[in-house]
Amino acid sequence: MQPEAFRNHAHDLVEWIANYLDQTGDYSVTPQTQPGEILAQLPALAPDQPEAFEQIFADFEKIILPGMTHWQHPSFFAYFPANASPPSLLGEMLTSALAAQCMSWLTSPAATELEQRVMEWLREAIGLPKHFEGVIQDTASTATLCALLSARERASGFSINEHGFTGQRYRVYASSEAHSSVEKAVRIAGLGSTNLVKIPVDSEFALQPQALQTAIETDRKAGYTPLCVVAAWGTTGSTALDPLAEIADICEREQLWLHVDAAYAGSGLILPELQQLAKGIERADSIVFNPHKWLLTHFDCSAYFVRDAAVLEQTFGLTPEYLKTAIDRQVNNYRDWGIQLGRRFRALKLWFVLRSYGLVELQQLLRNQINWVQELANDIDAHPDFERLAPVPLNLVCFRYKPEQIAEAELDDLNANLLASLNATGQLFMTHTRLNGVYTLRLVAGQHRTRREDVQAAWEQIQTTAQGLLANRV
Ligand SMILES: Cc1ncc(COP(=O)(O)O)c(C=O)c1O
Repeated sequence: MQPEAFRNHAHDLVEWIANYLDQTGDYSVTPQTQPGEILAQLPALAPDQPEAFEQIFADFEKIILPGMTHWQHPSFFAYFPANASPPSLLGEMLTSALAAQCMSWLTSPAATELEQRVMEWLREAIGLPKHFEGVIQDTASTATLCALLSARERASGFSINEHGFTGQRYRVYASSEAHSSVEKAVRIAGLGSTNLVKIPVDSEFALQPQALQTAIETDRKAGYTPLCVVAAWGTTGSTALDPLAEIADICEREQLWLHVDAAYAGSGLILPELQQLAKGIERADSIVFNPHKWLLTHFDCSAYFVRDAAVLEQTFGLTPEYLKTAIDRQVNNYRDWGIQLGRRFRALKLWFVLRSYGLVELQQLLRNQINWVQELANDIDAHPDFERLAPVPLNLVCFRYKPEQIAEAELDDLNANLLASLNATGQLFMTHTRLNGVYTLRLVAGQHRTRREDVQAAWEQIQTTAQGLLANRV
């Protein structure tokens, strides 16, 4: 592509993007696409000859766009959001333009030092003590794997990296509500899924410390070596908050690594009132949260904080001759702080976000969302035909439709139908989980484009659709 053509197309694309962002709410949140429909429109082989950008872009609009889920839609209430604010988008544009590979200080000094600084900003913003050091990982899954590998290496005197397992029988503990990435990390770290001990939760879906203590003691008696506890601060199902202080007491007493998985909820720690609910987090060995979920920064951007960066570097550092530099001892080489060698310049978008909004505005945004969902929770509580299924510490509400004339055994199907009917409208997108075995609707209002009216409109639509389903059954 010639420079002049690039300039023209880039200007056109910026116009397109700005219009798209203005109109995100006009799209169907989820596409009405059948499996294989997009694939069938794509040629089986790459073109031999160059194609005009106009043609490529026309196909983007014709084939790709109709098959996209619009994660930036104000009525995206599914999973957890992947917020992508305009300043973050501008940061991503520049990251793409510079296209630096930021594995070492030398390969882009500014990328390394900006990463160091924005992680210090975040550390202060979420109220962590100064001895924590941070690094940006791609995802929480990766960060949790790093935590388990670091725990494994610290416990084995860094010998498993050298010699492999020599008979150690480690155990990892997490609540029965922990995210599947914990089990995946246990597998990849070579510990084995059966050595992940799922600790029961209380009526609020938070880990029961007494059950954790008992499990550790039982394991020790059976000849296992307890290694690590992964506490969830904000479970995926219902944003339950594990009791970190009590878990930290156990970890200190038993000398276990404490990793806090705060993938979604951790961004909320910029709110002083939520920091109160996370007492004990300052005693963790490692913590992860995703600005790419709730803190308006494009995927991927996971903030990983460690109490002792030396353990991280000892676990992951491996420097072949061709990567050695004269200043290695004076700088952070983030390639040694995680799994991957090559690294994107992720700090730039986060810097843009933190500076463009400022902490006060970010706090207000998150606080508003929490308030709107609390209002919704009150409406659900007040409605005779709906039932709330979990506490609402943040901006996710779990509930189900439960009209009195419908038997318990039919409620799962009724709610699955309700969810399918709601999502089929394309006007909103919600997802489900199971809590205590019960089919549960989840509504997360964490998209930065969501307004109070969108949450209220969703609640209206939920009630109307539910009543319609009931009327059709009778
Ligand atoms: C509690 C929790 N942990 C981990 C993850 C995985 O996040 P990632 O996609 O960044 O690996 C999620 C995703 O929603 C989550 O909710």
